[in-house]
Amino acid sequence: MSEFRQLIFSGVQPTGNLHLGNYLGALQRFVALQDSYDCIYCVVDMHSLTATLVHDDLMEQTRAIAAAYLACGLDPKKNIIFNQSRVPQHAELAWIFNCVARIGWMNRMTQFKDKAGKDRENASLGLLAYPSLMAADILVYRATHVPVGEDQKQHLELTRDIAQKFNNDFSDRIAALGLGVEMMVGEEKVNGFFPLTEPLIEGPAPRVMSLRDGSKKMSKSDPSDLSRINLLDDADTIARKIKKAKTDPEPLPGDVEGLEGRPEADNLVTIYAALAGTTREQVIADFGGRQFSDFKPALADLAVEKLAPIGEEMRRIAGDPAYIDGVLRDGGERAGAMAEQTMKQVHQIVGLLVN
Ligand code: AMP
Ligand code: TRP
Repeated sequence: MSEFRQLIFSGVQPTGNLHLGNYLGALQRFVALQDSYDCIYCVVDMHSLTATLVHDDLMEQTRAIAAAYLACGLDPKKNIIFNQSRVPQHAELAWIFNCVARIGWMNRMTQFKDKAGKDRENASLGLLAYPSLMAADILVYRATHVPVGEDQKQHLELTRDIAQKFNNDFSDRIAALGLGVEMMVGEEKVNGFFPLTEPLIEGPAPRVMSLRDGSKKMSKSDPSDLSRINLLDDADTIARKIKKAKTDPEPLPGDVEGLEGRPEADNLVTIYAALAGTTREQVIADFGGRQFSDFKPALADLAVEKLAPIGEEMRRIAGDPAYIDGVLRDGGERAGAMAEQTMKQVHQIVGLLVN
């Protein structure tokens, strides 16, 4: 019996500015994976409707994320790059998953609780079902690995729960139709139609923190622009934000253990290591005992060197929307062909009448 082909899927929402956290937690890693795996990178435009229904510039934002993918070095020939709404099978599979998943599972999602706030009854059904669409994004390609930042861990566990429940609930039909694929879950060999997708939450900086508060993650929605470095910030702005970053009065410690309980120092050392492609240990070996007044200019120079060219390239690519649309159209066609294949089989499994 065959095994699932290794396939990478990930997505980014087209809402707000991309920042250093998105780059280190996601985009930089997407680029690293493209040489070794088949990869599908999506701009999840339909997910953006769960935050705000009416956007003035959703199409521009969608193109801006695609431009960021390309500017970071994703090759549109090697990878499939497209926007979610072009492939209607995502929404179709999400509906099936809405019928598989339980309301209790959705209610437990910390992102839902945060975004819905106190007035949960008044949140949209789409916000509650967000993880179901995310599971469909991944599983409509039967993707096996998903690179994301730490904050998406819970959603990926839910994706596995949905796949597992679908595989169990329909196990007889999957077997009768010969559509099962064997996979290892821990030590156990199991059979199912959907893989139990693995998160790839690794790399040096899966959780980049705010520059103003080391206990909060760097986020698009933070009201203070000084809290994050946007990929479109120019060199002066990047340098200024690093110089203004919150720190404590002590010099950098002599070993990495000394970063414990010093979240701002820890964050800046982690950012340095991730941008330089080295380890935190090495950064401490180089800068341990030094004052922030020494370390920050070095970090600012490094950040400008690595990030400013990406911002410039994003601007250049964004100036050619016809090119971006061509990339997304081509990617959409290739993704659509794969998704259509999966959905035909899902129809058979679930027993929906076709023809
Ligand atoms: P979003 O912008 O929320 O759609 O996130 C896009 C990707 O960036 C996801 O893989 C997130 O996990 C990742 N990400 C967002 N914020 C951070 C952060 N502060 N640190 C690391 N990764 C992040
Ligand atoms: N929820 C993800 C985020 O906010 C975006 C996303 C949607 C995604 N679908 C996905 C990420 C599928 C990985 C795989 O960052």
